[in-house]
Amino acid sequence: MSEVAEVRQDTLPKLGFLGVGWIGKNRLETLVSCKLSDNIAICDTYQPNIDETLKVVPSAKAYESIDDLLKENIDGVVIATPSALHAKQAIRALELGKAVFCQKPLGRNLAETRAVVNQAQKMNKLLGVDYSYRYTKGIQAIKEVIEDGTLGKIYAVEAVFHNSYGPDKPWFYDPKLSGGGCLMDLGSHLVDLMLYLFNAPSTEVRYANILSEGKTISNHWETVEDYAEAQLCTSSGISMRLACSWRLSVGKDAEIYLKIYGTKGGASFHNVNGSFYDFQAEIYSQNYSEVIVTPPDDWGGRAIQYWAERLAKNSSFSLSNNEFIKSAALLEDIYNFTRV
Ligand SMILES: NC(=O)c1ccc[n+]([C@@H]2O[C@H](COP(=O)([O-])OP(=O)(O)OC[C@H]3O[C@@H](n4cnc5c(N)ncnc54)[C@H](O)[C@@H]3O)[C@@H](O)[C@H]2O)c1
Repeated sequence: MSEVAEVRQDTLPKLGFLGVGWIGKNRLETLVSCKLSDNIAICDTYQPNIDETLKVVPSAKAYESIDDLLKENIDGVVIATPSALHAKQAIRALELGKAVFCQKPLGRNLAETRAVVNQAQKMNKLLGVDYSYRYTKGIQAIKEVIEDGTLGKIYAVEAVFHNSYGPDKPWFYDPKLSGGGCLMDLGSHLVDLMLYLFNAPSTEVRYANILSEGKTISNHWETVEDYAEAQLCTSSGISMRLACSWRLSVGKDAEIYLKIYGTKGGASFHNVNGSFYDFQAEIYSQNYSEVIVTPPDDWGGRAIQYWAERLAKNSSFSLSNNEFIKSAALLEDIYNFTRV
């Protein structure tokens, strides 16, 4: 993945931001600071969030309804509303010929995700999802050593995302609004990284367990899980262990890592001092380790930067978007493993 190329001023896309809460405002600030859009409209149903965002872009036109926003002459819509709204809003924007960049999850389940990707393909419109960890320098460096054969044949992966806090907004705890708990929120990033790095044609769930307050649950459509674990096996023979949680006592803010083992060596991508933002990458050879990437790395807004850069040049659909369907299918298989 190359650095974001300079985009000519006269091709800057006109963008509509739908939902300017925590992450929506954050991503808008990235685009404004990178000068990747200077023509912005915003929409939120909560006036205080509109007011805060207008402090960042005083020139933005502000709306309270998606229909009014979509009447604007905009090239793309950035969606950062609660997860239950993503698929419906993305489809509406695509139907009207807008490109879409959506926060994860694109849909609460496989059916919703597939419907959005199909609509993007039908309208031949660019679709992006904010799987931001892909864009860290650490993951990029690890992708390189996997692809150049440094690690040999990869056969085992451990992926962990434990957050010692839980989300601070009530809608995250209603599965009808969020689509799921920590697996949907954090595990979706791990599943995305596994598919991104190893690109296996298919992945089977061998074991899964999802829990709420220390008890296994099988009704994930009624209760959100705060701990999830799964054992997966790819069609290329990679054995993968995944674990994620909210409010786990891990002795630090977060424990996030991906450890990868191959016939010639290993690699790890892990957070530093419990940080949500600082990551280090290392490669291993038996008991020897070499650090290949250290913080700082300002990666949070890179996914939207790439999307906006691409939109400035070409707004058409990419077949790589089928990855979103693959990751939604795998998440659904993990949830369904425990279903009674
Ligand atoms: N990519 C990532 O790593 C990442 C990180 C954080 C959050 N997220 C995702 O981003 C989404 C938003 O999360 P958040 O923490 O910013 O939530 P938030 O509650 O802070 O923001 C949501 C915003 O949407 C607005 N909204 C609600 N209904 C609306 C509607 N019908 N039309 C327009 N605006 C509406 C709310 O008023 C609020 O301002 C979630 O889906 C979450 O999973 C992704």
